[in-house]
Amino acid sequence: MTTLYHLLISTLIVLSNLPASLPTHLATTPPLPVSPLPSYSQLKWQQREIIFFHHFGVNTFTDSEWGTGKENPVVFNPTGLNAAQWIDVAVQTGVSLSILTAKHHDGFCLWPSKYTDHSVVGSPWRDHHGDVVKEFTDAAKDRGVDIGLYLSPWDRHDKRYGKIIPYNEYYMAQLQELLNKYGSVKEIWFDGAKGSNAPNMSYLFSDWFSMVDELQSTINIFSDAGPGVRWVGNEDGFAGSTCWSTINQTALSIGNASIVDYLTTGDPRGTDWLPAECDVSIRPGWFWHKSESPKKLSQLLQIYYNSVGRNCVMLLNVPPNTTGLISANDIQRLKEFKHAIDTIFSKNLAEDCSIKASSIRGGKGSGFGPELVLDHDHLWTYWAPKDDANDGKEGHWIEIKAPNGELKFNVVRIQEAIGLGQRIRKHEIYVDGKRIVKGTTVGYKKLHRLENGVVTGRTVRIRVIGSRGIPLISSIGLHFDPYWHPIGK
Ligand SMILES: *[C@@H]1O[C@H](CO)[C@@H](O)[C@H](O)[C@H]1NC(C)=O
Ligand SMILES: *[C@@H]1O[C@H](CO)[C@@H](O)[C@H](O)[C@H]1NC(C)=O
Ligand SMILES: *[C@@H]1O[C@H](CO)[C@@H](O)[C@H](O)[C@H]1NC(C)=O
Ligand SMILES: *[C@@H]1O[C@H](CO)[C@@H](O)[C@H](O)[C@H]1NC(C)=O
Repeated sequence: MTTLYHLLISTLIVLSNLPASLPTHLATTPPLPVSPLPSYSQLKWQQREIIFFHHFGVNTFTDSEWGTGKENPVVFNPTGLNAAQWIDVAVQTGVSLSILTAKHHDGFCLWPSKYTDHSVVGSPWRDHHGDVVKEFTDAAKDRGVDIGLYLSPWDRHDKRYGKIIPYNEYYMAQLQELLNKYGSVKEIWFDGAKGSNAPNMSYLFSDWFSMVDELQSTINIFSDAGPGVRWVGNEDGFAGSTCWSTINQTALSIGNASIVDYLTTGDPRGTDWLPAECDVSIRPGWFWHKSESPKKLSQLLQIYYNSVGRNCVMLLNVPPNTTGLISANDIQRLKEFKHAIDTIFSKNLAEDCSIKASSIRGGKGSGFGPELVLDHDHLWTYWAPKDDANDGKEGHWIEIKAPNGELKFNVVRIQEAIGLGQRIRKHEIYVDGKRIVKGTTVGYKKLHRLENGVVTGRTVRIRVIGSRGIPLISSIGLHFDPYWHPIGK
């Protein structure tokens, strides 16, 4: 009796102390994620969209792609080298991370490594005191651009190559030099490339990766098998039209030709978040050659649609020339490329439209309404349908309607809230009730550049007809690409 009395009294006291402004109901919670999820560094990486690669070294001077390791270091002499110019080109292109080949297969080191005689120390450049890695990282730091490094596992110069312990010790000594001395490194690149008659060699990858993680806390490790970022399986810059960021890491190994198709599409049942990076060069070769020219703008745009537009990051190689500068014709092409992307995507024709959806998690005003796909947050604000409902026989859908007149577009952009997992397996797009696209995965960003060119209509409906859990759409755009002229249209 007394207990009940006390309870009653204390409840009354609590109630009388309630502030007048207490909300009458609490906010609807976000849905549970569908695992696996990206790490903080993987999410940062994904949002960069375009990364630069700079292939530079003795090959630049010997006009080759694969050096022999027998070059005389004297050939390396970039008399006008200015790494600030490379970084300025990145800034002008809107690129926030640039990766340098600190060592390519020839074994020539762009920094004065203590562990080899094949480096800038043997070069007359900067009177044997040069350090390209330092000039590059200093210039990047000054301009707020992040850096990454490539240290080729295959080394055609070093005599230890082929001997497991001595070579792995050498390789790891160089990793320590690079990752201790040059500040924060955001990506490191490992590959399995090697000549068919190269000596057999076992790389101690798991030791390398542990060392990298020990020395750099926010780095993404790239290789055929991750663990941070995976190779897309080709050097054309194209991902699969279906592309999952999820894959089974246990099925991957480095330098294994039988896994390239799996790398290109990923795996909807994959247990690891391991998104793909699409490496490609602006020119035919990876190193600069006087005889080569940059790809056409239309080719670069196609690569963009097939990499960034397929849930991947585009890793674009821009090789400095023998002067030590990025060539004027490459810079010109990059300016056109940046201008084209800005022209296409700066205007979202859906912006002034009304928008509705099959259902809303928590109902209207819950913080999960369809209008959130038109704001500028492409990760953490999103439309979510109700949990339980299959939303009738139409499934989950979201519809954009022009207030008056017709919409005229040739690109549809869809983005998922990947912070809560990649979900959509299958989707379709309808204009005024007529299906114009049958698609599969979406992921961070899906760009449909319409095969038949421009469409006009009043309503655009996106139907999700298969997903892992409920679909969460963070952004939708309708765009007009004036550079897109499908053949025969
Ligand atoms: C490398 O090892 C494989 C099997 O372990 C062997 O068949 C091959 O001949 C070796 N290659 C060289 C160049 O030693
Ligand atoms: C290559 O990958 C396949 C598929 O995962 C695997 O069965 C095979 O053992 C791998 N080969 C090597 C040399 O790792
Ligand atoms: C990947 O792993 C999951 C979970 O173990 C499994 O269900 C799936 O079949 C695997 N994928 C492949 C291609 O083997
Ligand atoms: C390298 O590019 C710069 C322009 O950025 C140019 O001035 C220089 O002549 C080029 N060097 C060669 C060898 O083409």
